[in-house]
Amino acid sequence: MQTKSFRGRDFLRETDFTREEIETILSVAEELKRDRAMGKYHDDLLRSKTLFMIFYNQSLRTRNSFEAGMTQLGGHAHYLDPGKIYTPALEGKEVAYSTERVSDVAHVLDRMGDAIAIRCYGDPVDWEYGGAHALLQEFARCADIPVLNMEDDIYHPFQGLADILTVKEKFGGFKGVKFTMSWAYSPSVHKPRAVPQSAILYAAMMGMEVTLAHPKGMELDPAIIAQCEAYSKMYDGSFKITNSFEEGFKDAHVLYPKAWCATPIFQAPIGENDPKKTQEIFDQYKSWKTTSELMDTANKNAIYLHCLPADRGWEVNNDVMDKTSGDGWLSAIYDQAENRLHAQKAVMSLVM
Ligand code: CP
Repeated sequence: MQTKSFRGRDFLRETDFTREEIETILSVAEELKRDRAMGKYHDDLLRSKTLFMIFYNQSLRTRNSFEAGMTQLGGHAHYLDPGKIYTPALEGKEVAYSTERVSDVAHVLDRMGDAIAIRCYGDPVDWEYGGAHALLQEFARCADIPVLNMEDDIYHPFQGLADILTVKEKFGGFKGVKFTMSWAYSPSVHKPRAVPQSAILYAAMMGMEVTLAHPKGMELDPAIIAQCEAYSKMYDGSFKITNSFEEGFKDAHVLYPKAWCATPIFQAPIGENDPKKTQEIFDQYKSWKTTSELMDTANKNAIYLHCLPADRGWEVNNDVMDKTSGDGWLSAIYDQAENRLHAQKAVMSLVM
């Protein structure tokens, strides 16, 4: 593969890259991680380059891993709060002297910097499913520099890269790895779907034995499910859906239980814009909580993953989150969080 084929490309979703290209990104991430541990810093790779980061939503990991990553590679990450600039908006959603059309923002920023990264989901697009992804696509259409998805309402491709990098580190590869993405209970219904959708897309793309577990009513995007089924066939893995929390744990190597929203939260045509109804669905499934007893039913070398932040005591018990060393199954949540940094440095080095 020509690595120069990465240059200038956007990264909005998993399917923007082939499996071979994703494997290259993982190799570069491993190399950058290893080199930094050995005191080789690569602080000339993005010297004098600027990444503009536009956050419509809050963040701990994404902001700090992109920002630290740019610093480590010799460049600079510039934080833009949409409430403090003229909020970038699509045509038809503009408010005079409060918003600025996305095409104008994209054209101005691409005269000054080297990539634009955006996070947008949920409230900023009034829970119109796909509205945030459309905003990112418009940035990508207009900007002559790479546009990176720091989580929209469909995809969280950089979280997913860190997830599979962690699986690769722990299991040495993907063949035969039983990967379970599961819903888990949270008292907050305002949870995006992007993390589980990206996780199952990558797991299927890597040919893992993928199980998606969720209660009835928590279905993910049918187009994502169809893509997972296609990847599983293409890469000789498997993909199944269960409505049993316990079945998802049984003998699995990777357990990734977290809350995501139910369809009624979204606006029509896919939802009903009804948080109360969504809450009623959620509250039927308080028992979907990860405990050490459930982890004991998984493979003895299983890992527990969570993209964080986790709702401790609701999605998962402390003794699972905090078992990061010792015998048997382990929590890999901090390795997973650290891998955001290495995976993003790899992508930024390749596309910028
Ligand atoms: N996992 C993740 O994206 O974390 P933040 O919301 O803190 O960025």
